[in-house]
Formats: sequence, structure tokens, C-alpha cells
Amino acid sequence: MTSVNVAITTRPSSSCDTELAKGPWEFDLSPGYGPGASEDDVIPAPVTRPGQLPVAYQRMSDEELHERIRNAKKALGDRLVILGHFYQRDEVVQYADFLGDSFQLANAALTKPDAETIVFCGVHFMAETADILARPEQRVILPNLAAGCSMADMADEDSVESAWEELMELYGEEPDADGRQPVVPVTYMNSSAALKAFCGRHGGIVCTSSNASTVLEWAFERGQRVLFFPDQHLGRNTAKAMGIGLDQMPMWNPRKPLGGNTAEQLDAARVILWHGFCSVHKRFTVDQIEQARAEHLGVRVIVHPECPMPVVDAADEAGSTDYIRKAIEAGSPGDVFAIGTEVNLVNRLQAEHPDMTIFCLDPVICPCSTMYRIHPGYLAWTLDGLVEGEVRNQVSVAPDVAADARVALERMLAALPEGRK
Ligand code: 13P
Ligand code: SF4
Repeated sequence: MTSVNVAITTRPSSSCDTELAKGPWEFDLSPGYGPGASEDDVIPAPVTRPGQLPVAYQRMSDEELHERIRNAKKALGDRLVILGHFYQRDEVVQYADFLGDSFQLANAALTKPDAETIVFCGVHFMAETADILARPEQRVILPNLAAGCSMADMADEDSVESAWEELMELYGEEPDADGRQPVVPVTYMNSSAALKAFCGRHGGIVCTSSNASTVLEWAFERGQRVLFFPDQHLGRNTAKAMGIGLDQMPMWNPRKPLGGNTAEQLDAARVILWHGFCSVHKRFTVDQIEQARAEHLGVRVIVHPECPMPVVDAADEAGSTDYIRKAIEAGSPGDVFAIGTEVNLVNRLQAEHPDMTIFCLDPVICPCSTMYRIHPGYLAWTLDGLVEGEVRNQVSVAPDVAADARVALERMLAALPEGRK
């Protein structure tokens, strides 16, 4: 079994390795996102702080944890469905009934209406999305409630509401002669349910990294410009690929009046980019790409669109986690791929394709420290709870928030790319 822990401990010089070789419960209770997170990451709100994993589970051997998970899965049968994001560690991925990117997992939650419990091995916003799309009688569990997403937390509801008020004051609320509203809010899937609800209420929509250009097309049919949050990089990379100039993409800093822009800059804007980013994808650089090209003749460089624009520009391609997986599956023996995304996925792809060379652009093995929070210990503990009739770590979105958020999510699920309309 490939384990991030193994890779980590063999690279003692990295900045994020030694702490991540420990069980997540050892750093779960300290403030912040844990080892490997950026100093710029905001401290998570108390709501994401978990209860401690019972000591008995912390001390269990791997064998016992895996036996417990297997037994619980068997006992729960079709009443349980386990969803796993590509960034999960292999020790957890092996139990997923569906493995996918955030868009596929949002759909997967819909395909098992008879399962009474959805256990989401991913991060908090994904579990919230599953809860919003699930049937009322289904429940969603996030095995470790500390598994947040630092980028999602960079846009909070209050800051987005005040940005919206400023923009409405500037642009007015009336549509233009073509019926297009002044601004359409677009939130990346990596955001709280409250922000998805905000988009639902204001004629907006959700996007993922696999459908961002389709969603922006949808938004431009209905609006003169877009307010895109929280990930500036996905917004910038997608809009640039659609031919929108950088001078039409001002950044919105929530701590400054008008987001730090002049009224003229905002008048010329097509996409207003929130000041958010992913600390994992921010680690990738153009230098790493140049080094990969120098060391591996013919290497194909594919990066996730959460990477900064110069990195996406220097790569051969950019795409979601599923895009990366499919590109490698379509490769041939002997191919060399340098990948700019989270290391668990890259390591797994290399293990699945031993006849190719697949490596992570970042030489310092640094997984997403919040995806990493889902350890088999938490999975065993939450599944044992279900067998005993106790629901642990349920993620439940308030009904009024869920109703508005569902509107924005359903718009996304119904949006079709140009040519398939
Ligand atoms: P995908 O949309 O590709 O699944 O990515 C989600 C994510 O969190 C990337 O950092
Ligand atoms: Fe969030 Fe980045 Fe981790 Fe994805 S990789 S879950 S965007 S912190």
C-alpha cells in the first residue's frame, strides 16, 4: 500500500514532512490547518474543531483498524455508501465505493438514494454539498470534522455580503438592455454552504475545476460581469483561456474599500477575483517546470488550474484531478508526466501505471494537510458508531441555507458546455 507517511519519512529535509508522519489527532486540536499549511492560511473557525479521536482508536494497530472498517462495511451493506476524493490517502481510498473529483462526487451522492448514510472521505465543503444534494432521510458523515479547506475559508459570508453591497451601490441593481444583471456571483465548489446559498439567492451558480469555463459562459449569458470566489487562480486561469484580458480581472481584497480598486477599474471589469488561493497548489513554480523539462526530455507537464497563472501558462495542459487522471490513462508505456497537484493522487497514478514515469513537480512531498486528516482511525470510529446505532461527526446544513445552495448547485449540474446545448 502506498502511503504518504512512507514518502514523507524518507525526505527529512522537507518543511512539512515530520509532523505529517504522525496521526492527525496529534495536531488536530492546535489552531490552524496543521503541518504543511501556509502561514497565510486563515485560522479555521471553532466550528471546524473536532472532538478528539478516542484514545483506544489512536492506539489501535493498522490491522485492527482495517478489520473494523471491513466488518462495519459488511454489517452496514447497502445502507452505507463511502465517497472518496482523489486526494485521499490509499489506506482510505481502498474503502471508497466511488472515487472522484469534486464534481463527480457531487453527482455520485445522487446515485445512491437508498443508502441511509453517506460517509464522505474528503473535506468539509464536499460533505456539505453531499448533504445539500442528498434526500432528506439520508445523512452525511465527515469522519474527521477538522478536515476543512483553507481556501474555502478565505471567503466568508460577511465579507462577500459587504463586497456585494459595495458592488450594487456602484453598478446599481437594474439589468442592461439585454436583460443581463450587473454582476453574477460564481462560487467555486470549495466554499461554504452559506456562500453557495448566497449565489442561489443572487442569480449565481457554483463551479468546479472541471466545468469552470462552462459555468463562466453560463454566467456571461446572464450578467455583464462575474464576482468569482474564493480562488483567484481558477478564476484568472479560466477567464484568461476564454480571452478575457488581465486588465479586466481586478482582484477584490475584502479588507479594502472597493476591494482595493478604483470605480473605473471595476467599471471595466469582466471578472472580479476574490483574494483566495490554495496553499498546496501555490507551491508549484515555473522553475520546477523548467527543471522537469531539463531533466526529462519529452515530459508532459499537467497542472491543476488552482496553480498560479504563470505555472499554468508554462505547463502543457491544465485540468481538474479527473482530467489529469484521464490524460495519464490515455498515455502510452514509456511516457513521462510531471504533475502539479496533490501528491497522494500523483503517487497513486504512478503506482497504477508502472510502465510510465509520473512524478510530482514539487520535490518536497507535501500533501494537503486537511485531506490528510481522514485517517483510517477516524473512518473505523465513525463506522463502528453506525453499527452501534450512534451517528458520529454528521455534517448537516440548515434547511434554509440548503434550499438556496441547492438552487446554485442545480444550476451547475444543468449547465452544459457550448456545443452540447
Ligand atoms: P477537483 O475539483 O479537481 O476535485 O479539486 C478539488 C480540490 O480541492 C483541488 O484542490
Ligand atoms: Fe483545499 Fe487546496 Fe486542500 Fe484542495 S488541495 S482541499 S483547495 S487546501
